[in-house]
Amino acid sequence: SPIINPAGKQKVAQQIAQKVKDGDVLGVGSGSTVYMALLAISERIKTEGLNVLAIPTSIEISMFCSKLGIPLTTLFEHTPNWLFDGADEVDPNNGLIKGRGGAMFKEKLLISSSPLNYIIVDDSKLVPKLGTNFPVPIEVFAQALLHVEAELKKLGANSIVLRPAKGKDGPVITENGNLILDCYFKEMNNGLEKNIKAITGVIESGLFIGYDLQIITAENN
Ligand code: A5P
Repeated sequence: SPIINPAGKQKVAQQIAQKVKDGDVLGVGSGSTVYMALLAISERIKTEGLNVLAIPTSIEISMFCSKLGIPLTTLFEHTPNWLFDGADEVDPNNGLIKGRGGAMFKEKLLISSSPLNYIIVDDSKLVPKLGTNFPVPIEVFAQALLHVEAELKKLGANSIVLRPAKGKDGPVITENGNLILDCYFKEMNNGLEKNIKAITGVIESGLFIGYDLQIITAENN
């Protein structure tokens, strides 16, 4: 993905790299900020000889880790000691929208599996209200598409777009073999994340409300 606001991303990437300790199992989110953090971590691995394992949230990040010489593991074998991930939007209550890159299911699974979670963002991600710049992405089992769309309308979705693929005809197919609906809602109340998840055919959404997250921004650190 294009690296927008490289200076802010570089700053939070360096801060996350400083937190790595020898022997850590790291949950690794997806996106360009995470990529920059991995570059900084791989420098420390090389210069200090650290032993670190990574549990990735996407094929893209698996490939970066392998290229950078950071060994991979899975949730079957290890639980992360801590995790770092980016976000598309962060609100004043630390609510998030994630999933511009389509990896929100594995990202939420990793965040739910990790005792300590750092969200690294440049200041352009800070919004007064979720839904300011990004829709809520919802991963949907393909045959459930029409049912899920109808139920999302009942929850107040006023714009629902099937995410198109780039470089291929038709929709995005996620790494889990599903579709993505990008949705804007009239109102985003605290129950919305659970109400979306309760629809049969929804795999996961990119809405993160009420999670225990440490937000690292370029400005406040
Ligand atoms: C990936 O699915 C997203 O949740 C990313 O965490 C988000 O899009 C952040 O990406 P950047 O770090 O590239 O802005």
